[in-house]
Amino acid sequence: MANPFTLGVASGEPLPDGVVLWTRLAVDPLGTDPRRPGGMAPKAVEVSWQLAEDERFTQGLRRGIAQALPVWAHSVHARVAGLKPGTDYFYRFKAGSQQSPVGRTRTADDPASTRPVRFAVANCQRYEHGFYTAYRHLAAERPDVVFHVGDYIYESRQSARVVRALGPLPGETSRLHEYRQRYARYRTDPDLQAAHAAAPWVPTWDDHEVLDNYRGRGDGSAAFLRRRGAAYQAYYENQPIRVRPEDGNLQMYRRRTFGTVADFMVLDVRQYRDATTMLGAAQEQWLLSRLVTSPVRWRVLVQPLFFARRFVPGPAPNLRPDSWDGHPVQRARILGVNVPGLVVFSGDVHNAWAGELKADFLDPGSATVGVEFVGSSITSQPPETDGPAVLAANPHLKFFDDRRGYLSCTAGPEELRVAFRAMDFVDRQGAPVRTVAEFVTKGNGLTSENASSK
Ligand SMILES: [Fe+2]
Repeated sequence: MANPFTLGVASGEPLPDGVVLWTRLAVDPLGTDPRRPGGMAPKAVEVSWQLAEDERFTQGLRRGIAQALPVWAHSVHARVAGLKPGTDYFYRFKAGSQQSPVGRTRTADDPASTRPVRFAVANCQRYEHGFYTAYRHLAAERPDVVFHVGDYIYESRQSARVVRALGPLPGETSRLHEYRQRYARYRTDPDLQAAHAAAPWVPTWDDHEVLDNYRGRGDGSAAFLRRRGAAYQAYYENQPIRVRPEDGNLQMYRRRTFGTVADFMVLDVRQYRDATTMLGAAQEQWLLSRLVTSPVRWRVLVQPLFFARRFVPGPAPNLRPDSWDGHPVQRARILGVNVPGLVVFSGDVHNAWAGELKADFLDPGSATVGVEFVGSSITSQPPETDGPAVLAANPHLKFFDDRRGYLSCTAGPEELRVAFRAMDFVDRQGAPVRTVAEFVTKGNGLTSENASSK
């Protein structure tokens, strides 16, 4: 067999005692044959994995065997349990005589831990828009965990703006083999592979993993549900997540808790959505009750869409219906819980923002009930945005930056700190990264530190 580890390795879903180890075998990652995703023959392949506390695989070695099955595009999701909390581990796979690269992962902290959590937030990585230099820098930071808030792939046909070509199958993806091939295209990138190999990930999806701006069951047609099912299956096959799709659905909303410091509530703003609800009744109920009972310092919503009200001056629509401004009643119910330490992370808009969440967005004097940090994009081009005009029209928004980048964060018992990491270019490799703004919150409000805006 030729090298089957062309898509790298990954880990995810850290718990205090376990993680998921991922790889997907692909001897010809960009292959276009629907019956042979990744160029793999339609038969099972035995894959062994090893995990240890040191990079030389001598301390606390564990091993296991997994079957990479054609029905799941030869992906492997090995759930490892019985590990120590808050501990670094290293892992690798073997198929035949071929050995994968080594990945580093880490378990979540012990439930009683007060240790600060270092995490990164990334989103929106349209392949043809540029190089994943941001991920090279993110990997070097070796955070405890990486959250991805959507647009991991773009289903769209290749953009008119091409820094690097998609290659074979540049059209819009709608069938299973096309989604699989699109993920393989993205995952061949060495910088993305480095970020996955550096830390466990906890991803959630937005719309482009399926179809631009889709909601729930779309038009309800069998064709759309088939397409959504194919996209969800390919998502599972290409992410280090715990749960498999069933009957065309995939359970995505979940929490990941780190000690007494942070409860990350990862939301799904697409699967259950319709004209009346962003989250669906069951997910909203789960979120509201968890917000109330969560016994931690920081209650962190990890989700794709701009949460604060954002009035954009100029021609209508001034409020974007695809964001939380399209569901203000449900947003008000979440903010109305009024718990301390509420923090929202989001993405989607391809520019970076920071702001305060208000009890009443139309009354700047109303209580501040949380803060929001909006990640820019790893590569995706931003729309034309008059940042200063939007800031002026929305006093609760405090910061705007239009460069590509990611968020580098630390949540501790005293404060939560967020650095906006940005690069000046992604149309060629090698851009340095720097912190263009840093914000600290100790509870409700937002304080700017070390800001070096353009
Ligand atoms: Fe995006």
